[in-house]
Order: sequence, then C-alpha cells, then structure tokens
Amino acid sequence: MDLFEVMRTRRSIRKYKSQMVDDELIKKIFQMVRHAPSAHNAQPWKFVVVRDEEKKRKIAQYCNNQKFIHEAPVVVVACGLPDESQANIGNWISAFVVDVSIATTYLMLAAWSFGLGTCWIGNFNEDKIKEVLGLGDDVRIVAITPLGYPDESPEPTGRKNLSEIMAFEGFD
Ligand SMILES: Cc1cc2nc3c(=O)[nH]c(=O)nc-3n(C[C@H](O)[C@H](O)[C@H](O)COP(=O)(O)O)c2cc1C
Repeated sequence: MDLFEVMRTRRSIRKYKSQMVDDELIKKIFQMVRHAPSAHNAQPWKFVVVRDEEKKRKIAQYCNNQKFIHEAPVVVVACGLPDESQANIGNWISAFVVDVSIATTYLMLAAWSFGLGTCWIGNFNEDKIKEVLGLGDDVRIVAITPLGYPDESPEPTGRKNLSEIMAFEGFD
C-alpha cells in the first residue's frame, strides 16, 4: 500500500483475531515511530507494549470497560515524558501531548500498512493504568491503542467536506 492508500483505508478496529503479533513486526512498526517529528526533536515519548493477559484485562477495565481492548493480542500505552519536552507550543499547548499524538498516529498508520489494526483510546483512567504498569509521576499517559490483526472490516466513517475543513487565506 502506498501512503495515500494507508491513510485513506485505515479504520478504527474494535474486533481482533487472537493471532499474536510477532515481536519483529512490532519492532518494525516502532522503527517507523522513531521518524515522527517532535518539538525541538525532543522525542518525549515511551510506548509500553503489553501482551500479558491480566494486565490487558485491567487496562480494558480502566478504559471504561471497553472489552475489545483486552481481546486484542497487544495493547500499546503511549506515554509522554514532560521533563524531556519543550514546555509549550504557541504559549498554551503542552508540547509532549502533541508530540506523543503525532508519534501514535505514525504507529497507527505503520501498523495498518502491515495489515494490523489499532483504535485510539482516549477514555481511560490514567492513575489506575499507571498503577497496573508501575509507571512513575514523571510519566503521563496520552493515548492507548489495541494492536492486532483485524477481525472486522468497518465501513468508512463519515468525514466533513473539504470546504468545511479548509479555507484559503482565512476563515470564510
Ligand atoms: C482522541 C481520540 C479518542 C478516542 N477515544 C476512543 C475510545 O475511547 N474508544 C473508541 O472505541 N474509539 C475512540 N476513538 C476512535 C474514534 O471514535 C474514531 O477515530 C472516529 O470515530 C473515526 O473513525 P475511524 O478511526 O475508523 O476513521 C478515539 C479517537 C481519538 C482521536
């Protein structure tokens, strides 16, 4: 798949095959994540790859009981490292949140290009999941995603028209 095809066809996957994802494939995906841009090239991120059943079960529970997360063979917890990050972008945006979000998007697109599904999870209890993984105060969880071979082919989700999302020179 070329890049446009990957971007056009990616879907949030909420049903996964039980087939494990090979470690080498996981590493290949993260080789792509390494190329994500970040403010001052700080790369203030670390991704925790979870395959342990009990940890996955607890993570799904602390994601408002979204059970499909646990059903995926792998769950990735995308963490930000504020101390390694430039403080702010445009005076008000936490740089590490933006940086980790970009890197997670790279992960999702790289995964899709290898035939693997993901689903950005924003509904989680950070403190509880940090407890499950033994993460310290210097770590912030920005996103979570299951990772695995899709066991569904969701219809395309709706998108705004081009005229609604962009305008030349200023808002219409
Ligand atoms: C910041 C963010 C938070 C999200 N949180 C959840 C979530 O907690 N659970 C879920 O099933 N999907 C979640 N999604 C996935 C969106 O529902 C999905 O991306 C959107 O409906 C578009 O569908 P698509 O990804 O298939 O194109 C989240 C997406 C983003 C970007």
